[in-house]
Amino acid sequence: MGEFTLRPLISRDRIAAKVTEIALRIGEDFAGEPVILIGVLKGAAIFLADLVRHIALDASFDFVAVSGYGGQRQHSGEVKLVKDVDDSLADKNVVLVEDILDTGLTLTYLKNLLLTRGPKALKIAVLLDKPDRRIQPVVADYVGFEIPDEFVVGYGLDFDNYYRNLPDIVTLRSDVIEARS
Ligand code: PRP
Repeated sequence: MGEFTLRPLISRDRIAAKVTEIALRIGEDFAGEPVILIGVLKGAAIFLADLVRHIALDASFDFVAVSGYGGQRQHSGEVKLVKDVDDSLADKNVVLVEDILDTGLTLTYLKNLLLTRGPKALKIAVLLDKPDRRIQPVVADYVGFEIPDEFVVGYGLDFDNYYRNLPDIVTLRSDVIEARS
């Protein structure tokens, strides 16, 4: 796939500024307390890696993995846990970290799951939010950018596992998506 199929949406500079801003807010909200960030594989890995390095607290991180899209553009409607966190979240300040909030099915499932683990606090950080696509009414505490319903890749987000390594967030032309579906 050539570069001509991609259009710039959010530059690496704007992403970096927003990540710093969210990290600052997390630092204020949990002032003086430890936090654990839980990233949702794979898309959130890059956002989490940048975010955690800007949080001026005792911050650790772990990952969960779920299946829902199974490589398809359409959500299957069902979310299954594929990988759990390694340690107890009881009495911990937890921030669930996602690259994108789309239908809300993934975060609704994960929020409910993590709440059963008895955290002291649970907040949700998403870099991108597509409110037009919501099926479940989940609201994130920290939102980087609200975006229209376009197919976005880069900075962790993929199309068939391609493009996760792009430093900027770009849109992928729909004719390309259709040709490859
Ligand atoms: C994407 C994204 C979120 C989820 C959001 O993951 O990373 O986890 O979909 O969608 P939702 O709000 O409609 O539930 P995907 O299943 O594509 O896996 P990936 O992170 O490995 O790319």
